[in-house]
Amino acid sequence: MSVLNLSSLQKILDTLRNGQPIAIPTETVYGLAACIDNPLAIRQIFALKGRPVNHPLIIHVSDIEMAADYAELTELAIQIGQHFWPGPLTLILPKKDSVSQEVTGGLETVGIRIPNHPVTLQLIQSLQIPLAAPSANQFGKTSPTTPAHVLHDFDHQVPVVDGGACTVGIESTILDLSVDPPAIRRLGAISKSDLKPFISTFGQSHTPTSGTHAAHYAPSTALLLSQDLLADQARLETEGLNVATIQFTDSHDYAQSLYAELRRLDQLGVDILIAAIPNSDPLGMAVLDRLSRAAVGSKQS
Ligand code: TXA
Ligand code: MG
Repeated sequence: MSVLNLSSLQKILDTLRNGQPIAIPTETVYGLAACIDNPLAIRQIFALKGRPVNHPLIIHVSDIEMAADYAELTELAIQIGQHFWPGPLTLILPKKDSVSQEVTGGLETVGIRIPNHPVTLQLIQSLQIPLAAPSANQFGKTSPTTPAHVLHDFDHQVPVVDGGACTVGIESTILDLSVDPPAIRRLGAISKSDLKPFISTFGQSHTPTSGTHAAHYAPSTALLLSQDLLADQARLETEGLNVATIQFTDSHDYAQSLYAELRRLDQLGVDILIAAIPNSDPLGMAVLDRLSRAAVGSKQS
């Protein structure tokens, strides 16, 4: 199945309008997209991913006016949207009737964002309908940040729109504005301190979302997190194990390359992967969140 680009815009739009899911680029990770007004296509997304049908999908819009057609935007939501969109921030808001419960997994709220990727923004503008898109990976596995990752995960059965490698590399921050006080449900490139000018008090996160399960983003090879990579590597190699390592000094580089590295090293057939604990800056903390879940998940697969 093909890798497409905007030179075949009409073909991409026709495919989506005909109800076939297509993988699309965003700045965070690739998404497995379908028009939100096509229930069969939405069901296909869940089936292709092997994702439980009560796990809500994020919808992607091209501007705030479009967001207002699908979610109840409070004054605070508009302020935050105007500041951070297009960008790696998903807002959970009360949904409007224009969003079906198939998309929201039965919830009365909807996750919504404007992705910062010119290709996908053009697709949504042309369609004039939001695209529901979870990350384009098999449920519980590592998210895709290149077209090749998507082709691999869906055995070349899903077309991919090529938007290059994702620049952020980890999934969006999820801010729940449907509760008072607002709560961060998933860490991403937009940090709590970025949000502080808009929100004085944050609530506890309680709704479990798929990316917040203890085991997620998992490679098949065992993964160990390490404060002292060289020492752990030497110890494990002395025990006779084949080891591969992941280490980036800069958190931005770590986020951008994390999933590509986990996937690449997972193919090597080594006994264990060791990942250096990232820096303790906000983006490093978001990377650590993914690494911790990947480590738990790797033990289970
Ligand atoms: O960066 C991203 O957010 C990527 C790109 C493609 O936009 N999408 C993504 O989607 O990561 P997904 O489905 O893999 O993760 C979305 C998370 C899930 O954990 C889901 O449960 C949660 O968002 N979510 C979506 N709608 C929600 C809602 N109404 N209430 C609570 N959680 C919600
Ligand atoms: Mg996901």
